[in-house]
Amino acid sequence: AKDPVRVLVTGAAGQIGYALVPMIARGVMLGADQPVILHLLDIPPAAEALNGVKMELVDAAFPLLKGVVATTDVVEATTGVNIAVLVGGFPRKEGMERKDVMGKNVSIYKSQASALEKHAAADLKVLVVANPANTNALILKEFAPSIPEKNISCLTRLDHNRALGQISERLNVQVSDVKNVIIWGNHSSTQYPDVNHATIKTSDGEKPVRELVADDAWLNGEFISTVQQRGAAIIKARKLSSALSAASAACDHIRDWVLGTPEGTWVSMGVYSDGSYDVPAGLIYSFPVTAANGEWKIVQGLPIDEFSRKKLDLTAQELSEEKALAYSCLS
Ligand code: NAI
Repeated sequence: AKDPVRVLVTGAAGQIGYALVPMIARGVMLGADQPVILHLLDIPPAAEALNGVKMELVDAAFPLLKGVVATTDVVEATTGVNIAVLVGGFPRKEGMERKDVMGKNVSIYKSQASALEKHAAADLKVLVVANPANTNALILKEFAPSIPEKNISCLTRLDHNRALGQISERLNVQVSDVKNVIIWGNHSSTQYPDVNHATIKTSDGEKPVRELVADDAWLNGEFISTVQQRGAAIIKARKLSSALSAASAACDHIRDWVLGTPEGTWVSMGVYSDGSYDVPAGLIYSFPVTAANGEWKIVQGLPIDEFSRKKLDLTAQELSEEKALAYSCLS
């Protein structure tokens, strides 16, 4: 039998946490033959609720779940963890300035960077979910210099999956037959959902999405804004932000990273830019990636047309501004 993998979920008493921890304990994230030990972290005001989540995990009698560490102590939470899914953060409240929310979150991510650097396992992989996800991940990377940058990422897979979902609905095809959309840039409304390389599996082989949709106005307009604004649309409908889809996307992200992407398929991940596609180096930016043997690689050489170029640059610009704002909060 395999040794258990220790998976940390921060903000585990929150809504995404509640959807995510049973998925991990069922093997959705790491596979149906991989035992796990869950480390759940939240802050003292949520300690009682966190303990309730632990009670339910015990009650669910998940065969793969070999232990639960539920704590408000960041050292206990991070000790020995192989995977960290960072969902905990400070939400934007009415009347708060962007800078104030940024300041709260960068200080949380700076301190979690140090704890992970000191106490996590050497093979630690980090996924930041909490917003501003790209910039929180960047702060974590910069304040945990001994964690290799290839082991730090942020979640844009939800946006990627939303794009697959919109194409599948529009063409009335199975979502599993749609692939190779790309989310470029920030997990925010400036992200660029790109279908120029996306394909559909048909009985006649793979066909470009552009050819089958045959409506460039929709693909360059409403499709993009629907994906960009989907988070807001869910909040409007549910009065709560996306939780089950975010949790599912977090599992997809880690699973593909650890177990590899299928041949011929790429996914979107927020990763440290090396300057690929003329995206400024030193930002956490969402790119198309493939993964094998636990390592991701940015897909190279895709042609970028003029329409796309502007959109890649716009979202990079926003990330550079967020980075500057984050640093101004720290100083
Ligand atoms: P929530 O408010 O229900 O849960 C957040 C939890 O984090 C709370 O239990 C809170 O006590 C905890 N927390 C706060 N500070 C903490 C700290 N320093 N350490 C540990 N835990 C801490 O929020 P929800 O809906 O679960 O969303 C969580 C985050 O995920 C938000 O920042 C949200 O904007 C973001 N999000 C990101 C998505 C993405 O695709 N990247 C999609 C959906 C949400």
